[in-house]
Amino acid sequence: MKIFKIDLIPGDGIGVDVIREGRRLLDHIAGISGMSLEYNELPWSCEYYLKHGKMMDEDGMDKLKEFDAIYLGAVGYPGVPDHVSLSGLLLKIRRGFDEYINLRPVKLLRGAPCPLRDVPREDIDMVVVRENSEGEYANVGARLYPGTAQEVALQTGVFSRKGCERVIRYAYELAKKEGKTLTSVSKGNALGYSMVFWDEIFREIGQEYPEVRTSSLMVDAASMFFVKEPRRFQIVVTSNLFGDILTDLGAAIAGGMGLAAGANLNPERKYPSMFEPIHGSAPDIAGKGLANPLAAIWSVSQMLDFFGREDWGAKVLAAIETLLTEQKVLTPDLGGTAKTKEIASAILAILKR
Ligand code: NAD
Ligand code: IPM
Ligand code: MN
Repeated sequence: MKIFKIDLIPGDGIGVDVIREGRRLLDHIAGISGMSLEYNELPWSCEYYLKHGKMMDEDGMDKLKEFDAIYLGAVGYPGVPDHVSLSGLLLKIRRGFDEYINLRPVKLLRGAPCPLRDVPREDIDMVVVRENSEGEYANVGARLYPGTAQEVALQTGVFSRKGCERVIRYAYELAKKEGKTLTSVSKGNALGYSMVFWDEIFREIGQEYPEVRTSSLMVDAASMFFVKEPRRFQIVVTSNLFGDILTDLGAAIAGGMGLAAGANLNPERKYPSMFEPIHGSAPDIAGKGLANPLAAIWSVSQMLDFFGREDWGAKVLAAIETLLTEQKVLTPDLGGTAKTKEIASAILAILKR
């Protein structure tokens, strides 16, 4: 039997609360699906940084590398500057393991609340393919003349041909496989180098996929259409920063941050891929049992798909939908009074039915 090895990085705040429940679900599934799981739990977090002066061990990436997947909660907490904690852990993993695809479903499940009026549920059903290794997040820049009136901060976007081609091709392949439309979101009218380049590559690669229906939108217009006409979108491909922003907006129209999941994929499987809820550490509700673990549970479903167990991936997603439809056990963000742990227990109970 294949043993799947999973690195657990609960991280900070509610990351700890939700990964605990996600792991309970994984254990349950392993017990009944004939899948064997092995874990390696790592304490890397802001608390770890305050004790050790680093977000992960020196040989941290080597330790992680031996595993099939990483299951991460959230990184960042008051007391450590966000750019230090994130670039020392989450972003380091995304870049270092060349997880250049960030797949974020924006799907309004039955029973999930939607703040939009008169929008049929089926209209909100898309997958955002976010570039995840370069672009605006390349971390290239400088601070000049610090502390003077001439002080300057430079932050350079890096859009490589290889980097753009591979994410755009991935999105075309996905659209072709699923028979869906593909929308590229960029901003060529203002960013005359990087985004014009992106748009050119989107058209170039499109020549190889005559069967895929495409459109190209500016990110400002795309944001407006996410709210006004979400049915326009099926597969969306976009840059790192635009994908970050659009998927919080996507979360808002599809049930909230407590339901938004994401997979950071290295499609070649040379390195582990990483599965995480897209929300942060939510210091306002951390440790109180108020966090909704459904986003973390949805990322378990993505991990199971990645392991080739789409049967279980689908069962987990269906269990989330059943829970939402029944409206009995919900956390406060979804209008209920249940605790984090009770949500996971209810999901287990649904899977046992
Ligand atoms: P956040 O996502 O942590 O919280 C935003 C709001 O959504 C808060 O009101 C929070 O209570 C609510 N929320 C988020 N997830 C929820 C859940 N599962 N259930 C119920 N409510 C939920 O965003 P933020 O406040 O901007 O960031 C807090 C910290 O997390 C910062 O340090 C930030 O850098 C970091 N962060 C990390 C990640 C990550 O690790 N992937 C993502 C975003 C932010
Ligand atoms: C996300 C987060 C991260 C990002 C932050 C914490 C660096 O917002 O995963 O969406 O911007 O990618
Ligand atoms: Mn984000």
